Amino acid sequence: MDDLKNKYLAEIAEAADESALEAIRLAAVGKKGEVSLKMRELGKMTPEERQTAGPKLNALKDEINSALAARKAALGDAALEERLRTEWLDVSLPSRPGRQGTLHPIAQVTEEVTAIFAEMGFAVAEGPRIDTDWYNFDALNIPAHHPARAEMDTFYMHRAEGDNRPPHVLRTHTSPVQIRTMEAKGAPLRIICPGGVYRADYDQTHTPMFHQIEGLAIDTDISMANLKWVLEEFFSAFFEIDGIKTRFRASHFPFTEPSAEVDIQCSWVDGQLRIGEGDDWMEVLGSGMVHPKVLKAGGVDPEKYQGFAFGMGIDRIAMLKYGIPDLRAFFDSDLRWLRHYGFSALDVPTLRAGLSR
Ligand code: DAH
Repeated sequence: MDDLKNKYLAEIAEAADESALEAIRLAAVGKKGEVSLKMRELGKMTPEERQTAGPKLNALKDEINSALAARKAALGDAALEERLRTEWLDVSLPSRPGRQGTLHPIAQVTEEVTAIFAEMGFAVAEGPRIDTDWYNFDALNIPAHHPARAEMDTFYMHRAEGDNRPPHVLRTHTSPVQIRTMEAKGAPLRIICPGGVYRADYDQTHTPMFHQIEGLAIDTDISMANLKWVLEEFFSAFFEIDGIKTRFRASHFPFTEPSAEVDIQCSWVDGQLRIGEGDDWMEVLGSGMVHPKVLKAGGVDPEKYQGFAFGMGIDRIAMLKYGIPDLRAFFDSDLRWLRHYGFSALDVPTLRAGLSR
């Protein structure tokens, strides 16, 4: 028994890994292991012999098992030590400039706009890009055969014959999110809705998919004056120029009454556009007081509540702010363009730390 003990304890001490340990375990205390076979021989012994050999064999088995367990734990610790030594990573190091991805200007500008409106108490709401024509048109006071439907160059979803679900469209604007959010949250409400929209149009200033930001504020004492203040605050913060003036021009949208197109102050110097100075005007968005029918469609009582709404193109204000000449380049995925116009993913825009750097 001493021979067995010395042999196995020595082997265990030298086992290099877990599979070597397992082989030793089988050879010693497995079903057909040497110690197990010895235990079977107990049956053939006289009662006296059994009385001394039995406890000794049991003790031997226990000793081997605990030596196996101890060695296994030690091997595990060593393996972990080795991993920790080789797989280290200094998470406090800056990323390598050559490997940094950049934020697309649309993502950057969406973040900037969101940061500014968040400061004014607006939450972000989202809606589906594929929507029913009820949300995209009817609920916004654009009934079937209304000329505004034809003007929008809408992409209609194909329907198989016999499919009677309501018609779906790729939303042509972010305005349907107004209805969905009124339905879900009721009034009062203060939201912006950024997202992609679709129209069948393609040239230097139009792409079939582009981006808008919708704004909506509903309460019991909202007027056009609030709209003008909010927009002037927004444009000054966005273009990082104090006191940008806006001009409201009477216009028409089915979902607002009265409606206004809004221009911001600008000048052209030697063919170069300067925002926030001079006596020229640049159109940037559509807006107005939400039409009572639209409030009703969203389940909001127009006798009690009123609100303003606006919609503007994200791509367009991104082009204005960052001097990007061609809209189509936004969607080319040209790495050289992205490196030039992209933004550091780690510089999150905030009003305190700076919107753009
Ligand atoms: N939905 C309009 C468009 O895509 C933009 C717009 C105009 C949105 C006036 C509004 C608004 O909320 O009040 O052309």
